[in-house]
Amino acid sequence: MRINSPKINIIHKACMKASRSLIRDFGEIEKLQVSSKGPGDFVSAADKRSEKIIINEITKAHPDHGILSEESGIINGNNKTNRWIIDPIDGTMNFLNGIPHFAISIGYEEMGEIICGIIFDPIKDEMFFAEKGAGAFLNNSRLRVSNKKKLKESLLGTGGPKFDSKNKDIIFDEYVKMSKIVDAPIRKSGSAALDIANVASGRYDGYWQWELNYWDIAAGIIILKEAGGFIDFFKKDEKNPLKRNIITCNSNIHKELSDFIIKKY
Ligand code: IPD
Ligand code: CA
Ligand code: CA
Repeated sequence: MRINSPKINIIHKACMKASRSLIRDFGEIEKLQVSSKGPGDFVSAADKRSEKIIINEITKAHPDHGILSEESGIINGNNKTNRWIIDPIDGTMNFLNGIPHFAISIGYEEMGEIICGIIFDPIKDEMFFAEKGAGAFLNNSRLRVSNKKKLKESLLGTGGPKFDSKNKDIIFDEYVKMSKIVDAPIRKSGSAALDIANVASGRYDGYWQWELNYWDIAAGIIILKEAGGFIDFFKKDEKNPLKRNIITCNSNIHKELSDFIIKKY
């Protein structure tokens, strides 16, 4: 680890512990695919096991801090100063189907601003992390967004829509239009956290998606910013601040991408 602050150390320890449990559980998935009950219940148990390990690690160090976690919701909701935002498995569908592309995502916020975070892909053993002002890293290497200059030449990622989305038509329409602009087929990896990490590391040049939740992107926000990338939110839902529509990209294609996605809202 190239950043050695107390908060990152807590997240790092939590990720390492939870990932041991996740890797064990992922090893069981193949057997469960053929069982009569199917893997659904088992995966939600794996999700909760991972979350419990992470929350224990955080509350051991900071029992009074706020927590927002996908499965448990809000803990210590009165604490608006310090808050940890957790997604114990991002990429559940991949996990459920034995596809080795999922991550643990944990961000830490002070007064509403993300200060540091980790996205950990336990199967590829890739740890993306960043702290405000200290840069972003993938394992021991410094991260930097790509240098691609034109949207047309960019490799983009996206995701969704969810089955109950009210914006399906808009999302599909946007996808079709974007597909006619870019040369390379648009990627859909099934893990928003790893999609953002891919932009931060220059593997993707940009990524946009509707209807994400704050825990999908909290750690990604700081990792991307510290890697020199942009993140913008569009069509904000004031009644539901945890829901986010986002675009992320390098600085060169930022104008083109935001003109295309954001300008109309
Ligand atoms: C999901 C993944 C997926 C995105 C969905 C998210 P989950 O999170 O990030 O890529 O398209 O919108 O809900 O359910 O696997 O934690
Ligand atoms: Ca998620
Ligand atoms: Ca999840």
